[in-house]
This record gives sequence, C-alpha cells and structure tokens, in this order.
Amino acid sequence: MSSNPYKLLFVCLGNICRSPSAEGIMKHLIAEQHLQDQIICDSAGTSSYHIGSPPDRRMTAAAAKRGITLAGKGRQFERSDFEEFDLILVMDKDNYENILWLDREGKYQHKVKLMCEFCRSHTDREVPDPYYGGEAGFNYVIDLLLDACEGLLEQVKREI
Ligand code: 4NP
Repeated sequence: MSSNPYKLLFVCLGNICRSPSAEGIMKHLIAEQHLQDQIICDSAGTSSYHIGSPPDRRMTAAAAKRGITLAGKGRQFERSDFEEFDLILVMDKDNYENILWLDREGKYQHKVKLMCEFCRSHTDREVPDPYYGGEAGFNYVIDLLLDACEGLLEQVKREI
C-alpha cells in the first residue's frame, strides 16, 4: 500500500543561501536512505528579492565541498504552502514571525518549526544569515544544517 509522500518546505529570507542548502542536504540524506518516494523537499523565501535566481555561488561552493549539490530557483513563500506542506522549517526568528503573520488565525502554526530545534550537536537557536559575511559563515551554515537535517530526518522517519 502506498500513501502520499511527506512534504517538507525549508524557508529563509532570500531563498538563495540557507533554505536551498537545507533542501539540498535533506535531499542528499533522503537519497542515501532510499526514501525519495516517501519524503519530498522544496524551499522558499519570505522576501521577493531573489525570485527566479539560482542559489548564491558562495553557498553553492561551500555545499560542494561537502558533496552537496544545490539546485532550483528562488521563489517566495505563498499562503497555499501552508496547505501543501506537512512541515515548514524556518531558519531564524524573523522568518518565523514573517510566516506566522500570513497565518492570522493560527491555523497552521503547528506546522512551522525552527530548523535548529532538530540539531543534536549544535546549541544554536537560529541558522545565521551568511549573506553579508565571509566564507566561514557559509561553511558554518552547511555544518549546522547537516546536524539539523540528520535530526529532522530521524523525526520524519518516525512519523511516516
Ligand atoms: P538567505 O540569505 O535568506 O539565506 O537566502 C539572504 C539572501 C539575500 C539577502 C539576505 C539574506 N538579501 O538581503 O538580498
């Protein structure tokens, strides 16, 4: 018997650095465990700044060093995503507030989680915005998201 796949949406501000990285890392882990038919991933930004843009090349380079491929084009979060996805993973508290502002009645609040809640090694509460910083910041985002994605995958496997 087959059932609908579990759908994850990763959200940041621009959808060119953190959320495409989370999506790429999660897809990599899902493929390693042959769960592609059961778990689907996408990403979006709260802003319209980078609609249609590929992932940031500094972010793509940091991901490639860990064997992770980033793909896709920037898109903005839309209200229909609340219905479409089972879990919406945000990178920081600004993302969280911006998303919940679109859910005035609190109908979907239970679906929205901070990505760092799933970290098992790091104690960070938020995934820091690397956009205006140097290379180390991009590398750190990958490390943090690898930790969070591993914890998230274990959680999702318990639910599916
Ligand atoms: P992201 O990073 O939210 O991780 O994609 C940013 C990308 C672009 C901008 C800020 C953060 N920006 O201001 O254009």
